[in-house]
Amino acid sequence: MEKLVITGGTPLKGEVTISGAKNAAVAILPATLLINGVCKLENLPHISDVKIYCQILEKLGAKITWDGPNEITIDTRNISTTEAPLEATSKFRASYYIIGALLGRKGSVTVGMPGGCKLGARPIDQHIKGFEALGATVEVNQGKIIANVKHLKGNSIYMDITSVGATINIMLASVLADGTTIIDNAAKEPHIVDVANFLNTMGADIRGAGTDTIKINGKKELHGNSTYSIVPDQIEAGTFMVAAVASKGDILLKNCITKHLESITAKIIEVGGSVEDYGDSIRVFCNQRPSKANIKTLPYPGFPTDMQSQMGVVLAIADGTSIINESIWESRFQYTEELNKMGAHITSQGKTAFFEGVEELTGAPVYASDLRAGAALIVAGIAAKGKTEIYNLEYIDRGYENIEEKFRNLGANIERIVE
Ligand code: EPU
Repeated sequence: MEKLVITGGTPLKGEVTISGAKNAAVAILPATLLINGVCKLENLPHISDVKIYCQILEKLGAKITWDGPNEITIDTRNISTTEAPLEATSKFRASYYIIGALLGRKGSVTVGMPGGCKLGARPIDQHIKGFEALGATVEVNQGKIIANVKHLKGNSIYMDITSVGATINIMLASVLADGTTIIDNAAKEPHIVDVANFLNTMGADIRGAGTDTIKINGKKELHGNSTYSIVPDQIEAGTFMVAAVASKGDILLKNCITKHLESITAKIIEVGGSVEDYGDSIRVFCNQRPSKANIKTLPYPGFPTDMQSQMGVVLAIADGTSIINESIWESRFQYTEELNKMGAHITSQGKTAFFEGVEELTGAPVYASDLRAGAALIVAGIAAKGKTEIYNLEYIDRGYENIEEKFRNLGANIERIVE
């Protein structure tokens, strides 16, 4: 078993380079299945979700060459099967993108029912509604999703809920469909735009990604033969920004798109932090106890649910009582029990949590309950007095590249220990 051991209390100082976005990478990798050709991906984050995805693609017949720690060449000319490995696909959420991609390329697909972090109910009815609107039959049976179609036909689809996954999945399915598909009430997250940019670079015709309405004109084939660099990770950047505030530090984040960080920047300024925006880098510093703030998580451009737990650490040590309302997931306050073990005073009721700020946190053994909860515990450990031990690192490794090295380079006393 591995654990992170942090001796907290040191303000973080220095520079950190942000990696490619996890949630873009886990959609762009399956999107390569649509290409009858070869493409190259750069700025691919070296995280366990990416490694698992590459193994799944290889099982489907893709040939992958690692050209460097963050670069691959991927040849998807010969996709030999449409049955994705069940165990691997049922372990994580983003495996559902294989459905859209293989329906588009091969008209047939079987995958395991997607797993992922336990954040409450995670239905996929909007994905299924979209595939059916494009003419596919979809069956959920014995832990598998089986979808088939002779040939997908473009259609107009109005999403009942703003869903990142369903927006991307329907976009994937419609790229090679006959005619035009229109997705209304689409999600607008930066990684949706990134997937559309990737597909367009490979030969697709997608317009309007990043707005409520996305229009996809179906193409006969995607040629590939291009290189694409994945967008910097909005949430990794936000995690370091918040860590600068919680530790009363001063960090320059390089390789980020500050436009994507606006809602996080606004909250940091509200709690008393300072932000200098340089467009592709951002400096965050703070030399006072944060003040209280209320947060409601919302789809982009609102405050991201994936930053809720990290920001919760700042509110746990803020002057005054703050409220977080989580509007996306049913169960995303499990980390508050761990923060309470470190001396925080947080009570949660359903989708609302009350943070009665304390002067400081003290180190304790704590357990990550999901990826972002794990990131929050690292931030808490760095800000706290004394020694914090963090367990369940497999969650953190799913989405953060070299996390302890990056924090160590900023002066944190953090090491990974194998027990
Ligand atoms: N929803 C439905 N039906 C659907 C799809 C979604 O009811 O068919 C509901 C969900 O239950 C949820 C809401 O719609 O209440 C939003 O879900 P969405 O589909 O947008 O989430 P997702 O695609 O499953 C992605 C990220 C999550 C992130 C959410 C929201 C990936 C692989 N995952 O999930 O990221 O929290 O969008 O922004 O892109 C993380 O990175 O830690 C993470 C959990």
